[in-house]
Amino acid sequence: MPVELKGNIVVTGANRGIGLELVKQLAETTGEEAHIYACSREPEGSRTEALRQLTTRHPGKITIIKLDTTNEESISAAVQAVQDQIGDGGLNLLINNAAIRKPASSGALFATKKNDMMEVYETNVVGPFTIAKMFLPLLKKAAQRDSPAKGSDNKTACSSAIINISTAFSSIEKCPETFSAAQMYPYRISKAALNMLTRCQAEDFKTHNIVVTAIHPGWVQTEMGGEKAPLTTMDSVLGMLSVISSLSNKDSGMLLDWQGNTIPW
Ligand SMILES: NC(=O)c1ccc[n+]([C@@H]2O[C@H](COP(=O)([O-])OP(=O)(O)OC[C@H]3O[C@@H](n4cnc5c(N)ncnc54)[C@H](OP(=O)(O)O)[C@@H]3O)[C@@H](O)[C@H]2O)c1
Repeated sequence: MPVELKGNIVVTGANRGIGLELVKQLAETTGEEAHIYACSREPEGSRTEALRQLTTRHPGKITIIKLDTTNEESISAAVQAVQDQIGDGGLNLLINNAAIRKPASSGALFATKKNDMMEVYETNVVGPFTIAKMFLPLLKKAAQRDSPAKGSDNKTACSSAIINISTAFSSIEKCPETFSAAQMYPYRISKAALNMLTRCQAEDFKTHNIVVTAIHPGWVQTEMGGEKAPLTTMDSVLGMLSVISSLSNKDSGMLLDWQGNTIPW
C-alpha cells in the first residue's frame, strides 16, 4: 500500500511558492476527511495573503499554523496547536518544505559569509530535524492506527511519511556537473545534510513504519527559483504529489525527483 494522501497533513513554508501550491493541490484533491495544516512564520502578514485567500476558498479544510523553523518554541507551539485540533488522530504526512538560500547572489565563496552558512543550516537542516522530532509522536500514532493489522498480507503498508524537500544541487556525485551553474555553498551543503537527515530518520523510524523520503521539486518558478525556471509550481507539485502517493517502504531513505527518478547521493 502506498502513502495515501489522506488524514492530517502538515506543510511548512506554505505561504508562497511550492509550499502554497502543495496546500492548494492537496485541498483540491484529498477527500473530505483530510485536513491540511499550512504553516507560515507570519500568518497575519502580507506575505501570507494568498494562503489566507486559499483557506477561505476551502472552508474547514485548511488551518493556518504559525511556525518559524528556526525557533524551537514556535515549533513546539505549532505541534501543540495541531495536536489540539486533531485530538486522538495522528499525523499522516509531514512535508518539510520551508527553506532559504543565502546569499542572494550565486553563493560564490568570496561572497559567502559565516552568517550565511549558519542561517541556512539552521533553517534548512536544524529546522526539519526539530520539526520531525517534535511531530514524531503524532506520526507514530497515525502509523500505528492506520496500518493494516499484524499478519495481514500487506507487508509494505505505511500510513505516515515525512517528505523533505531537497534539491538536485545536494547530490555530491553530480556536483562536478552542476557546480559551475550555481555555486551556492551554504544551500548545497545544507541540502546534502538534509539528505543525511532523511537517510538517518528512514533507518530510525523503520520500526515505526514511517517512510522518510527526500524529493527534488525540479527547477521551479518561485522567488527562490527565479523566472527563468522551466517548471511552474503547478507542474512540479502535480509530479511530486503523484510520487508521494506512490511511495512505499522501499522508497524510504531515497532522494527522488518530482518525476520519481532516483538522484544519486
Ligand atoms: N524553486 C526551485 O527551483 C527549487 C529547486 C530545488 C529545491 N527547491 C526547494 O523547494 C522548497 C520550496 O522552495 P520555493 O522555491 O517555494 O522557495 P520560496 O519561494 O523562497 O519559498 C520559501 C518558503 O519557505 C518559507 N520559509 C523560509 N524560512 C522560513 C522559516 N525560518 N520558517 C518558516 N518558513 C520559512 C518562506 O516563508 P516567508 O514568506 O516567511 O519567507 C516561504 O514560504 C525549498 O525547500 C527549496 O529549497 C526549490
